[in-house]
Amino acid sequence: MPDTLRLTLAVADDGTREPLLADLADLGFDAFEEADDVLVAYAPAPRWDGPTQEAVGALMRQRGLDVDALTEETVPDQDWNATWEASLEPIEAGPFVVAPSWTEVPPDLAAATVLRIDPKMAFGTGYHETTRLCLRLLAECAPEGGRVLDLGTGTGVLAIAALRLGAASAIGVDVDPWSVDNGRDNAALNGVGDALEVREGSLEVVSETGFDLVIANIIRSILEPMLPGLVAKATPEAPVVLSGLLATEREHVLGVMAGLGYRAEAEVAENEWWGARFARGE
Ligand SMILES: C[S@@+](CC[C@H](N)C(=O)[O-])C[C@H]1O[C@@H](n2cnc3c(N)ncnc32)[C@H](O)[C@@H]1O
Repeated sequence: MPDTLRLTLAVADDGTREPLLADLADLGFDAFEEADDVLVAYAPAPRWDGPTQEAVGALMRQRGLDVDALTEETVPDQDWNATWEASLEPIEAGPFVVAPSWTEVPPDLAAATVLRIDPKMAFGTGYHETTRLCLRLLAECAPEGGRVLDLGTGTGVLAIAALRLGAASAIGVDVDPWSVDNGRDNAALNGVGDALEVREGSLEVVSETGFDLVIANIIRSILEPMLPGLVAKATPEAPVVLSGLLATEREHVLGVMAGLGYRAEAEVAENEWWGARFARGE
């Protein structure tokens, strides 16, 4: 792997940034970080040759930006995944703190239920709004002594949370083999390796029915066709917790769930994301 070039540009988030970002992507920059007044762009270092430097300078001038407001740095080749993992900090969601095993939970969060999640390549670090929305929703309804189905389990974070709150057993399924391995590792890390069974696949690998809580955090285009099959796995009394959904999809999802005989009994939102807990009934 070549070294990586990191360009830091002082650009306010005021509408100038989006087109600049698109032009930088055309010039071969392939990763970006954004903060209030700064845009950071990454590219393989060998790409930072004369023509690219001129093109970036021209872009800045075109948009009325000061070329001196740009700094460049070469970052030596390294294990990016390890670097990303090391940067993860404990994060709060409802009564939970999601924290990698190598971090210390701050003393002011000592009362929280700590979920030790080492994410590797799977989704579910607590850094995404939808994970936090599901954690908040399920905190209110984890079935004491009950059985849980977690569709799209990722790191296993949601199933592990339900088990930590008193559920007796959980099945987590995921089509992604990395997630299956990671979910199993995290279950062991949290002392629920015997209670959480992680399977590779989707609803077709779950022949069981009668779950006391059903959870799915998956984008709408994938989740919606699975909803009839998913709710069929639940007991009539079981809550169904859904996220992975945008606030703009709320009405549509409420309609689909109404068609299946469910109403939203709790709704939560963070930024553009939305989630709800459903119960059977009008
Ligand atoms: C948004 S992540 C949620 C992960 C975790 N449950 C959380 O809340 O953070 C969605 C997960 O669903 C998995 N997935 C996508 N399509 C799926 C399908 N058809 N069946 C089962 N899992 C699926 C993905 O691999 C991914 O791990």
